[in-house]
Amino acid sequence: MSQIQIIGGNCLHGQLRINGAKNSLLPIMTACLMVQGTIYLHDVPKLSDLNQMLHILADLGCTVNIKGNTVKIEVNELNTHIINDQAAPKIRGSIFVMGALLSRLGKVELPFPGGCAIGSRPIDLHLTLLKQIGVKCHCRDNKIYATYQPRHHHKPTILSLDFPSVGATENIIQATALGIPGNTYIIHGAAKEPEIVDLCNFLNQCGAQIHNAGTDTITIHSVAKLHGTTYAPIPDRINTGSYLIAVAVTGGDVTLTNTIPEHHINLINKLKAVGARITVDKDTIHIIVSRRRAQNFNIHTAPYPGFPTDLQSQFCVLTALTKGHSTITENLFENRFRYVPELVKLGAQITIEHNQAQIKGVSKLTATPTHNLCPSSYQIPKPQTCLGTTVTAHDLRGGVALVIAALAAHGTTTINHAEYIYRGHQDIVKDLRQLGANIVALD
Ligand code: EPZ
Repeated sequence: MSQIQIIGGNCLHGQLRINGAKNSLLPIMTACLMVQGTIYLHDVPKLSDLNQMLHILADLGCTVNIKGNTVKIEVNELNTHIINDQAAPKIRGSIFVMGALLSRLGKVELPFPGGCAIGSRPIDLHLTLLKQIGVKCHCRDNKIYATYQPRHHHKPTILSLDFPSVGATENIIQATALGIPGNTYIIHGAAKEPEIVDLCNFLNQCGAQIHNAGTDTITIHSVAKLHGTTYAPIPDRINTGSYLIAVAVTGGDVTLTNTIPEHHINLINKLKAVGARITVDKDTIHIIVSRRRAQNFNIHTAPYPGFPTDLQSQFCVLTALTKGHSTITENLFENRFRYVPELVKLGAQITIEHNQAQIKGVSKLTATPTHNLCPSSYQIPKPQTCLGTTVTAHDLRGGVALVIAALAAHGTTTINHAEYIYRGHQDIVKDLRQLGANIVALD
């Protein structure tokens, strides 16, 4: 079990570059399976989820070479349609392999996907869409078996999603972009997240013909072959949002580079409401927070461009430390408040009713003081005197929320199961130390 330990109270100052987006790179990596040739992906952060995906690709017959933050993927003949039983259940992104292999090989066998325990994570929307184009699939013993023989259609095939599922949209795009030239698919009710646009830009750079990505109606003209390319993903908008919220919580003056400001309009408006001074330039966001204004927020998570569910837990920390009464309604996942009892340990006043958190802002969070951080060489278990108040991460974004809370808490906080956090952050400890936080990783 990995731990992160923080002595809170420091403001954050300095500059930080945001890495490539995990939730773009996962579907882009599966889309590489549709290509015949060589792909270079730049700005690939070293994340456990991405490493798992590269293992899946290598198992299927791709040649993968990692050099720094560049990944070279050579795809010629794939040697199986059966997905690695070990890696696939660890990540949600493994489900995107379905669409890629069905369009490339016409068959796939894979275990049910994994991912953070934030809800049941069903795949019915994925399977419904795939069946709409003629995929035959059945599930047995927690595995999915699917085959696909596309036929030529003279008229467009009209598909529709009951809910703008990000993953289901990414899956059907991969299942239809490579196929019988002349076939056209129109997807109504598609997800509009920037990661969808990124996947389609990547595929179009490989020779696909996908139009209107980023809207709720995407049109795909199948092509017979896709060629290699060189591509850099969009910056990670969720990590950008997490760091902006962290500064709003601790106070300070931080410039984030390699960002796309228009991805953050919703969040930036909320941070300005509590008194943050935010200026944006081409790819930088500069935030200064000296004091926070009282504010009553009523947040409802929603698909893009609504307030992102992946920033819900981080923003909750901000409301917990902002004078006023706020509510956060989680509309996407049924189990995304597991971080709340951990914040209450630090003095937050939050109650949960069904899918809504009620938050009464407090003036400060507190943890047990210690003289200094544990030396990072300590072996677990460490002397209790060193640990301060311990809290536990249960998922990636909830874990990041605990880091943000610990940055503000007076005293020492030790976060258990930091490995969840490393699923989405290459090196959050280095990043925050670079901004002045008193933080150490304890492995
Ligand atoms: C993607 O998950 C992201 N993961 C999630 O980020 C993100 O929270 C989510 O989109 C919403 O933005 C990746 O991209 C790898 P969905 P995904 O399908 O595709 C329901 C993170 O922290 N649903 O849009 O699984 C589902 O239960 C992760 O980086 C069905 O009912 O999300 C949820 O309520 C966490 N049936 C809602 O739709 C389905 O077949 C949104 O899910 C699929 C989804």
